[in-house]
Amino acid sequence: MSNSKKRVYLETYGCQMNVADSEVVLSLLATEGFEITNSLEKADVVLVNTCSVRENAEQRVYGRLGEFKRLKHERPEVVVGVLGCMAERLRSKLTGEKAKGVGQAVDLIVGPDEYRKVPELIQKAWRGEKGIAVQLSRVETYDDITPLRTEGISAWISIMRGCDKFCTFCVVPFTRGRERSRSLTSIVNEVEVLSSRGFKEVTLLGQNVNSYRDNGNDFADLLRAVAHVDSSIRVRFTTSHPQDMSDKLIETVADHENICNFIHLPVQSGSDRILGLMNRTYNRVHYLRLIEAIKKSIPNVSLSTDFIAGFPTETEDDHKQTLELMQEIRYDGAFMFTYSPRENTPAFIMVDDINAGVKSRRVTEIVALQNRISLEKNLEHIGETFEVLVDGESKKSSSHWQGRTDGNKTAIFPKHNCQPGDYIHVQIDRANSATLFGSVANVPEVIEEAA
Ligand code: SAM
Ligand code: SF4
Ligand code: F3S
Repeated sequence: MSNSKKRVYLETYGCQMNVADSEVVLSLLATEGFEITNSLEKADVVLVNTCSVRENAEQRVYGRLGEFKRLKHERPEVVVGVLGCMAERLRSKLTGEKAKGVGQAVDLIVGPDEYRKVPELIQKAWRGEKGIAVQLSRVETYDDITPLRTEGISAWISIMRGCDKFCTFCVVPFTRGRERSRSLTSIVNEVEVLSSRGFKEVTLLGQNVNSYRDNGNDFADLLRAVAHVDSSIRVRFTTSHPQDMSDKLIETVADHENICNFIHLPVQSGSDRILGLMNRTYNRVHYLRLIEAIKKSIPNVSLSTDFIAGFPTETEDDHKQTLELMQEIRYDGAFMFTYSPRENTPAFIMVDDINAGVKSRRVTEIVALQNRISLEKNLEHIGETFEVLVDGESKKSSSHWQGRTDGNKTAIFPKHNCQPGDYIHVQIDRANSATLFGSVANVPEVIEEAA
């Protein structure tokens, strides 16, 4: 069957790596003549790129697959495919009983390293064959594929795949396989193309960017090379693992005006005993020293982190140590989760002994403390002026723009004669825990021609 005029709808769940992967899949499909659609009703092919990191991420996808099943009931010719981490982790369950009946609706199951096969598997599905491709690779980086991006301000660039850290709670090493890096040259080329298309921000992505290696170049070398492509492009990166964050990397961030002074450094817990059980491979003292070195070299740095509350055996004292660490570091923001046991991870055999009520109370305490700290830090910015990259219209007001500071804080300000993609100075006059509000400062003068 010809692919022309066949419309593909793709929905993405999970982390930014999945967002970047979806752009790779769409690029592969566009090359094969498929049309991309944002309308589920008009789609001939419905794909869902999935996440397995926590139970609720998987439950959302099961719910969605239930809806696709009903769609397929009305239009049996529609092909439904499950991509990504759930495809890798639940290949057999997705077709079996445990899929709560949604398995019958699924025609193809494709893991993160087999996306090149998606067009061919769609063809097979049209011939009535179900397809499964879930082999993990030690070399696949999709280095030669230009992701399909719509025009915009910010681009996600996947610089490496997989993870070798094996934190005991985490499915990623199993769903994404071993670490491998893309070539520095191809990443720099991609940034050059984005620069010529008017993009103003790139975020380099990897589960542990500090492990990046290509031909003797480490992550700091890559970051420097990317920053030199275009000084008007802001460069961000995520995620850094605290074990191998080097002084060289910290200096590289400090030395480059266009590398954002923003570091996401997931700590997970403030207790050495829990960090040990999590196999995080650093302790509290190492982490605090690292934060001290970062704050010293990059004085106005914004810091964020991830926490897991209620890991097996976590005591009230362990939890207290997490709260104390937060008070000591004073992060600007955090992603905060309750522990979700994942089958086949090493932590799964530890007893999930912290009951749901306790987990939920602990995470609520972490969230409340973080909100208080974020608010206090944001209030300190009142009266200051920030360079803000305009992202677009504020979600809550059509008369306001929304943008982000170098430290990744959202700023809202009345619309002015600027547009998305512009850098503008905003003076802050109000703040809450999530957002800074202000007005445009030092607006460039409009020189009117003499009549
Ligand atoms: N590679 C990143 C790192 O090591 O910091 C994190 C990637 S993971 C996709 C994002 C976050 O999800 C983790 O930092 C952790 O806080 C959380 N997470 C992972 N597995 C989890 C689990 N089983 N239960 C709860 N949270 C989990
Ligand atoms: Fe998961 Fe740990 Fe790898 Fe992050 S570093 S992806 S938490 S195993
Ligand atoms: Fe989820 Fe896979 Fe990312 S498990 S967080 S989509 S790497």
